[in-house]
Amino acid sequence: MKLTIIGQGYVGLTISLFAAEKFDVIGFDTNAKIVEQLNRGISHIEGVPSASIATLISKGTYRASTDESDISNSDVVVIAVPTPLTVDRKPDLSYIESACKIIGENLRSPALIINESTSYPGTLRNFIKPTVEMFSGTRIEHMYAISPERVDPGRIDFNQKNTPRLYSGLTPDATSKTRDFYSTFCDELIEVSSPEVAEAAKLFENTFRQVNIALVNEFAQITHALGISVHETIDAAATKPYGFMKFNPSAGVGGHCIPVDPTYLAEISEQNNVPATFIRRANEVNREMSEYIVKRVESDNSGGLSGKNVLVVGVAYKANVADTRETAAELVIEHLRARGASVTWHDELVSEWKNEFSSPLEGADITVVLTKHEVDSQAKILTSAPYVFDTTGTISGAHSL
Ligand SMILES: NC(=O)c1ccc[n+]([C@@H]2O[C@H](COP(=O)([O-])OP(=O)(O)OC[C@H]3O[C@@H](n4cnc5c(N)ncnc54)[C@H](O)[C@@H]3O)[C@@H](O)[C@H]2O)c1
Repeated sequence: MKLTIIGQGYVGLTISLFAAEKFDVIGFDTNAKIVEQLNRGISHIEGVPSASIATLISKGTYRASTDESDISNSDVVVIAVPTPLTVDRKPDLSYIESACKIIGENLRSPALIINESTSYPGTLRNFIKPTVEMFSGTRIEHMYAISPERVDPGRIDFNQKNTPRLYSGLTPDATSKTRDFYSTFCDELIEVSSPEVAEAAKLFENTFRQVNIALVNEFAQITHALGISVHETIDAAATKPYGFMKFNPSAGVGGHCIPVDPTYLAEISEQNNVPATFIRRANEVNREMSEYIVKRVESDNSGGLSGKNVLVVGVAYKANVADTRETAAELVIEHLRARGASVTWHDELVSEWKNEFSSPLEGADITVVLTKHEVDSQAKILTSAPYVFDTTGTISGAHSL
């Protein structure tokens, strides 16, 4: 069986390597630099070792490509392209559209097309299928299915093999072929009654995280006003053995799932005349945390922030990854600079970001910790400035949320 995976990023490359143990895989990507590196056995994704790519290339079961004609005789095509927000924070299906165009124009025989990109319910039925058909011209009858990706970058206890996978096809045949495909490398498959259920479940999973993080971020502001510790209070609540799940306060949410996916749900909700006020507000609360933190730092430093050398520690959106997509650091730094602070940043895993480079962890007037990687030294953070504000709740001795 010949498999093409469109998009060789976090999701696509990870699945490619699992699938290439069983099938011949073409890892198709429009980014020529990534493709060229992959074909030299070099990984650009954390958690995907270069050695694994090199092994599969030498076995002949994996090859990356920018050549659209390489997908022409695929039996299965998996779509794993970005689904970000536009500049006005609306769902952006342009990458899916471009993947559908490539599929429509190049697939020469009936295939199973599976979408793993996150989008709102109805995307497979009302957008992907008609778009592929619009570009295929010759009316080849493909099968269509969805299996939303649940990978958590940097996580090692759950992976493609042991994370239960939802799936559903537009037809019974598509559903059963999708099960056959994933059962070659996934332990637990959960069939749902329609693609819309799978699409909605994925959005709800991430919206659940978004609103709970917003709740604990609001709670951090309440506990501070009451003069009690948010961390001690949450830990106390977490001693209840049922009905409570612990979330930690932070500078906001990052990555390209939690800050993005709930907006897809809110959009489809509003298109169906259901106001998604709760979801929208959760997003706002998380985005507003950046300014709340800067105000806390400002009020602790009575002379204000103007002219102060402020060092932000951790621009990756979470600990132990180098991913800066949608990082809360962006808004925090904007608010610090708006108050006249001279801001540099330090990140042990990110050397360059937004045309700036990681600075040494020393010599600041104020340090604000947004993300703490395991490799970061707590002692060095604490001596990097006379005032250290920690948003992670992991640095004892620092001022904290
Ligand atoms: N990263 C995660 O943790 C994660 C988890 C679950 C779901 N998802 C979802 O999976 C999808 C992919 O996310 P990702 O993190 O892998 O993105 P990514 O940005 O890491 O990778 C996407 C890749 O697709 C390529 N690409 C873009 N348009 C293309 C096209 N038309 N044809 C071929 N290649 C194209 C890009 O060059 C890039 O290499 C998104 O919908 C995302 O929401 C991501």
